[in-house]
Amino acid sequence: METTFYDLPFTLAPGRVFTPRPATQGVVRVAGKLIGDEPKLVADVGTGSGVIAVSLAARHPRIEVWAVDQNPEAVALAQANARRNGVAERVHAIEGDLLEPVPVPVDVVVANLPYLPDSLHDPRYSNEPGDAIYAPGDGLDPYRRLLNACRDGKLVTPGGVVVIQFHREALTANCWELEDLRTRLEEKQEVAA
Ligand SMILES: C[S@@+](CC[C@H](N)C(=O)[O-])C[C@H]1O[C@@H](n2cnc3c(N)ncnc32)[C@H](O)[C@@H]1O
Repeated sequence: METTFYDLPFTLAPGRVFTPRPATQGVVRVAGKLIGDEPKLVADVGTGSGVIAVSLAARHPRIEVWAVDQNPEAVALAQANARRNGVAERVHAIEGDLLEPVPVPVDVVVANLPYLPDSLHDPRYSNEPGDAIYAPGDGLDPYRRLLNACRDGKLVTPGGVVVIQFHREALTANCWELEDLRTRLEEKQEVAA
């Protein structure tokens, strides 16, 4: 199966790797504005089919992207999509947890991680792998752990920024605003519940 995302062609693996939704193009737009024409190091955490990593690399020829996923099938698909779009030299798809396998501090972290509580069953996602959508408790642990990791000066450069997708919105914070972003996530999650 195929899709077009940000005007680029992507191969999909329905049922095995999350199928990207159009709203995620908002994350690419917001992150793209922050990246501009500068050379930057970027991490796409929970890359799935690689749509965010590949779209950013295609539009911003001076960036290098680490595209991380815990699902090995997603990693292989993201790498194949990077090759398909001619950006495989600058998109490194790697398996692992959050920022753990990224070998250098990055300037920009983008992420569309699971955030729905695992007590829910959302019929819009019934064909998706559960661990792409749901997380224990209030669902926010993956984002809480990511924001904590970003606070560690070894993983994100001083002045680095985070762009995350949450309930179809792209939320942004500078490194020094991560506590505020965590509070915003918790408030929005309560409203959505
Ligand atoms: C909602 S999907 C998003 C995929 C893609 N970024 C997109 O927007 O289409 C979430 C992805 O995060 C991955 N994931 C979940 N927890 C993770 C973790 N702790 N570390 C790395 N990847 C994770 C899942 O395997 C899944 O591919």
